[in-house]
Amino acid sequence: MRRAQTSKLTWSDVTPEATYLNRRAVLAGLTGIGALGAIGAGLPAHAAGPYSTDEAPNTFEEITSYNNFYEFGANKTDPAKYAHALTTDPWSIEITGLVERPGTYDLADVVQGQDIQERIYRFRCVEAWSMVIPWLGFELAGLLTRVGVQPSAKYVAFETLHRPEEMRGQKMPLLKWPYVEGLRLDEAMHPLTLMATGLYGKDMPNQNGAPIRLVVPWKYGFKSIKSVVKITLTAEEPPTSWNRANAREYGFYSNVNPDVDHPRWSQASERRVGGGLFAKRQPTLPFNGYGEEVAGLYEGMDLAKYY
Ligand code: MTE
Repeated sequence: MRRAQTSKLTWSDVTPEATYLNRRAVLAGLTGIGALGAIGAGLPAHAAGPYSTDEAPNTFEEITSYNNFYEFGANKTDPAKYAHALTTDPWSIEITGLVERPGTYDLADVVQGQDIQERIYRFRCVEAWSMVIPWLGFELAGLLTRVGVQPSAKYVAFETLHRPEEMRGQKMPLLKWPYVEGLRLDEAMHPLTLMATGLYGKDMPNQNGAPIRLVVPWKYGFKSIKSVVKITLTAEEPPTSWNRANAREYGFYSNVNPDVDHPRWSQASERRVGGGLFAKRQPTLPFNGYGEEVAGLYEGMDLAKYY
């Protein structure tokens, strides 16, 4: 394995065709929308992608005012109140561990050349509420392929920024900081798994995990780690924040499963945020409705044991 490089490395060092794109445009996903026609030539205008749901998206207001982002506090309204304090530019991601080309990559270089699409995904929180969110993002597989995954890698570990001066929740022991998450390599490589840089055609709002976060739509929302600064390819299953906080309640897999209740509440149904006080709860679907795409990843596994 090569030693991780600590100096700033850009894709131009590892890919011949790197072209610098305007950072804000890149973050907004404009390469996929056609505003940068000259540079993003060949990309479809406002590509919906084959995986989007046709359910009505939640409003921008709902998606940005009811959040979980413990780095800014434990209440749903804390992120919208306090996440403006987060500096998201400059931003880099260290990609390390069992990869061919480890390094610290500037965000623009991470995003450059990736196929940014709009994906309208169902999003199911472990707390039994749900939303429909029009993300902008690219497949994590595209990034992992580019850095080169070594054959011995079996898992991908993710880490959020640790900056208590800007993230006031990190001054409190709400969780062990920094927030960490992980996926099995085949889950990480699945085309549904996104690195999201925005929503509703705009840059990612800070409270939703600016400037870049993971989105894994068939798993409970806490797997979708926000404001990612480090990605490590590993041979062993990595620790995850909620499992570390309470292993009985939160497993590594955390696939949405109406048949496996949380020890303190049912997961059989969910409340769609914004549905109104008297809206009927709706049944939760296995794998959050993405079973056709992902159930095969877990063939032969006891999902009550590997929850
Ligand atoms: N990522 C970080 N770094 N910190 C968090 O507290 N909360 C998780 C997940 N990612 C969280 C996080 C949880 S519990 C959920 S439900 C989703 O983010 C919420 O994403 P949203 O606010 O964009 O809907």
